[in-house]
Amino acid sequence: MIVVTRRIPDPALELLQAAGDVWISPHDRPLTTEELQAAVRGADAVISLLHDKVDAALLDAAGRQLKCIANVAVGYDNIDVAAATERGVVVTNTPGVLTDSTADLAMALILMVTRRLGEGERRIRSGEPWSWHMFFMLGTSLAGKTLGVIGLGAIGQATARRARAFGMEIVYAAPRRASQETEAELGGARRVPLMALLATADVVTLHTPLTPDTRHLIDSAALRQMRSDAYLVNTSRGPIIDEAALVKALRNDKIAGAALDVFENEPDVHPDLRELDNVVLIPHLGSATIETRTAMAVLAANNALAVLAGKRPPTAVNPEVLATG
Ligand code: DGY
Repeated sequence: MIVVTRRIPDPALELLQAAGDVWISPHDRPLTTEELQAAVRGADAVISLLHDKVDAALLDAAGRQLKCIANVAVGYDNIDVAAATERGVVVTNTPGVLTDSTADLAMALILMVTRRLGEGERRIRSGEPWSWHMFFMLGTSLAGKTLGVIGLGAIGQATARRARAFGMEIVYAAPRRASQETEAELGGARRVPLMALLATADVVTLHTPLTPDTRHLIDSAALRQMRSDAYLVNTSRGPIIDEAALVKALRNDKIAGAALDVFENEPDVHPDLRELDNVVLIPHLGSATIETRTAMAVLAANNALAVLAGKRPPTAVNPEVLATG
């Protein structure tokens, strides 16, 4: 049996249903821990979403027949991959298919925060009178400014490519240097230490996975490094930013603004963030297009079906399980 923890697009469901028995959660909400444990019991494969915590207890609740956890997301910080590997369970994710839509959203947030679009929209909706004048709601131009990309993987690169079209220069911080071709394509992008990036970039954009090393990577010390006229954009994972420290930095004008698609305790949002005008807040929409969500679900379905058929799935996170399986 294949367990789907929350409704996914029909083309993916149809693929799964053509292959065997499928149980789909009837709830339009994340399952509780108890519900998840009950739902996965006896499953051969689980199609999970990023709000499902897949830990050792859940894997044990599923039972020894479990072969695959197919996460419908590129990020898989919700899954204890080591525990899955120990139990011979293949974990898969959905890289590639969401690169462009997530980079589009990162660029949209860069524009929103630097041009104060959320603030402007709120102003119109408030009904407060306004009139055009030379100093009304001035933002910051992007041309000639520097984008600091933290994590130059596929989405970081795609965001940098978009920023180049707006005339921005690129610096990046990453564990490894990108290829010369990539750096050249990004207009001579330079790899710099994280603290140097924070101190120089006009806009800092986060594209790193959430790991123990990147949790609170942007803490009060990192925020202190940033310029008071700089902006911070996060489309990766909320806990990479220490939200309480960010609130302080925004409130005290230590940085000019922030745009957040993801939150430290998602779906909760730090209440003080809602009170601040210099922050854009949107509800984890990075991959939220019909085309992308369909492609993600279809890729996850194909991953699960490949594992169940004893084949190599397109995008395994722990391919070592396949080698020993
Ligand atoms: C992912 O795939 O990890 C994204 O956060 C989903 O939008």
